[in-house]
Amino acid sequence: MPRTALAAVHDGRGNRLEIKEIQVADPGPGEVLVRLGASGVCGSDRHVLDGEWNLPSPTVMGHEGAGTVEAVGEGVTGLAPGDSVILSWYYPCRRCRACAAGKAWACTGTRAPECLLPDGTTRLRDGDDVVYPYLAVGTMSEYTVVPESAAVRIPSDVPFDVASLIGCSITTGVGAVVNNARVPAGSSAVVVGCGGVGLAVIMGLALAGAHPIIAVDTAEEKLAAARSFGATHTLRAGDDVAAQVAELTGGGADYAFEVIGRVETIETLPSLLAPGGVGVLVGLPPEGAKAGIDVLELAEAGKTLIGSNYGGAVPSLDFPRLAELYLAGKLPLDSLISHRVRLDEVNEAFDAMRDGTRTRSVIVFD
Ligand code: APR
Ligand code: ZN
Repeated sequence: MPRTALAAVHDGRGNRLEIKEIQVADPGPGEVLVRLGASGVCGSDRHVLDGEWNLPSPTVMGHEGAGTVEAVGEGVTGLAPGDSVILSWYYPCRRCRACAAGKAWACTGTRAPECLLPDGTTRLRDGDDVVYPYLAVGTMSEYTVVPESAAVRIPSDVPFDVASLIGCSITTGVGAVVNNARVPAGSSAVVVGCGGVGLAVIMGLALAGAHPIIAVDTAEEKLAAARSFGATHTLRAGDDVAAQVAELTGGGADYAFEVIGRVETIETLPSLLAPGGVGVLVGLPPEGAKAGIDVLELAEAGKTLIGSNYGGAVPSLDFPRLAELYLAGKLPLDSLISHRVRLDEVNEAFDAMRDGTRTRSVIVFD
């Protein structure tokens, strides 16, 4: 029996979302119906709304969510109604070479980027029209239907607002440190951009024992937040950041993370590094963006630039791990949430993100 759900829908034009009632069909074979408890308002949704990335539309936005399994389709054996789950916005196909090698983040068989379930359809409708769940999860909706491999069970004592953040920003940020860069204790690090994801990078660096941890942002509020999550020094963007980093680290940082997705700041990464240092691209630029790098200097100084998508995570392994670290008091994820909002306040939440005035908004469902 299809049910209705209120959802934040983007029609593919302009940057506003409309709150609409959509129809959600029963889960098909291998799929689960999830009642959302919370959805984060994350930077990647903004890229879409601001026309930087193309998607099929109309789209239920949101890719950072957690909730309760309401029903399971035929053949689902790993989950049952009542389970608490975090949704992954890159569900693995579990058949390709990357999946076989345990690299879910590099799966080549997933249809998540097309906003489609494995069978090439979606379970969401607006009357006769197909509606696409963003990255096959569409978390800004009261209900969604996802493949079983997109829903990862977590302990039921993790609150949904915190759990939702593990679905993207935390995994992306902490994963960039521990899975991609594998930062050893005592390394120096710079983080450029201290939004939700950048602060998660700082938390990951603190967890890994990096020192010093230097945070860079244009907004003073973000720098104050960075200090509370473990940054030992903060710098205002625009001041001579490279010279100050060199002074604080004695010649350049061992690791530098770009967590905005701006070509201009990506281009500065090598200048922040010591010889042999590693620059990590976490922020996602608009489609087709190209950066100019002094490649002779990069080669001669033995510097490395690496890409990091979804924190190099295997969600079925990393989500429960991060949830346990939170429960053990080792990741202060509650403090990342600055605003809890209703679904119909989503446009204001994106505006606040554009103005850089909020750490993290989370939509909480009744
Ligand atoms: N220099 C330094 N900081 C800047 C600059 C700049 N020139 N311009 C913007 N910032 C800061 C903003 O003040 C803000 O704190 O970058 C931060 C960006 O954070 P959010 O907009 O909250 O975005 P977030 O959700 O953290 O995502 C950041 O990571 O995963 C990707 O797709 C995501 O590309 C996005 C990036
Ligand atoms: Zn995200």
